[in-house]
Amino acid sequence: MPEPHLSELLEVAVVVARQAADLALAHRLLGVADVGTKSTDTDLVTAADRAVEQLIRGLLGTYRPGETILGEELGTGTVADEAGPAAVGRVRWVVDPIDGTVNYVYGIPHYAVSVAAEVDGVSSVGVVRHAVTGQTWSAVRGQGAWRDGVRLRGSSCTDLSRALVATGFAYHTAGRARQARVVAGVLPLVRDIRRFGAASLDLCAAAEGRVDAYFETGLSAWDHAAGGLVAAEAGLRVGGLRGAPAGPDLVLAAPHPLYDQLHDLLDDLRPPSDPAMPDPAATLAGDSGH
Ligand code: IPD
Ligand code: CA
Repeated sequence: MPEPHLSELLEVAVVVARQAADLALAHRLLGVADVGTKSTDTDLVTAADRAVEQLIRGLLGTYRPGETILGEELGTGTVADEAGPAAVGRVRWVVDPIDGTVNYVYGIPHYAVSVAAEVDGVSSVGVVRHAVTGQTWSAVRGQGAWRDGVRLRGSSCTDLSRALVATGFAYHTAGRARQARVVAGVLPLVRDIRRFGAASLDLCAAAEGRVDAYFETGLSAWDHAAGGLVAAEAGLRVGGLRGAPAGPDLVLAAPHPLYDQLHDLLDDLRPPSDPAMPDPAATLAGDSGH
């Protein structure tokens, strides 16, 4: 199979994210409809989440027929027409139609569309579009990260005690209790903590240096696929627990001089008996999302 052109994937991701973000905003202006819950009572989904993902699937089906997609609301499939055979392509799209659904429901103007393309399993293109402001972050593997044409470099903070650190919390009660214990251990050791409510935007904020670092446990691929690439291409180190790639156990993005300190602190604070956070992707079969 020929090597996919990353510039073409980027172009598609930008167009898809823009149209998807416009649809999310249009729905919001009409009022939030069909608010339901997924994995827990705090894990919300709306008609807009589903409509935006349907739009994304339709657009990718037009621009990139036959490629695979993993989306938060509708799971895994091909973006070919429904009748088409599953393609054995090299590209997989990983999308979150609305990242920051709780903000969206409450009218807090901080939510985004996240579109990433993996080539042969490697995150290669990432686009995050803030649905309200229209700010768009993008990255191509090996080619840098931008916000609306501005090259991003991340924070140059070297001192953990001066670091502004963003994080987020899972929807599962037990997971939250563990996360709260970790945050209680981190907070006295850093400048401050921020919780904005959209992981993709947190990673883009780290890429910009609007926060110095970001960590979260329990995330799904769609939450961090695009933003993680933006942060990495902005020069931050992005990874997971104990040398693993970023994943459900940990997504950490930090300037290189801070990374090991923060990682080791998070690892130390992790309760010894703490089982790995449930892998939300594993629950997709029943369309239960996360
Ligand atoms: C959530 C947000 C939130 C993070 C949660 C995610 P959703 O995604 O990114 O900031 O803390 O872990 O699940 O549900 O709004 O798409
Ligand atoms: Ca979402």
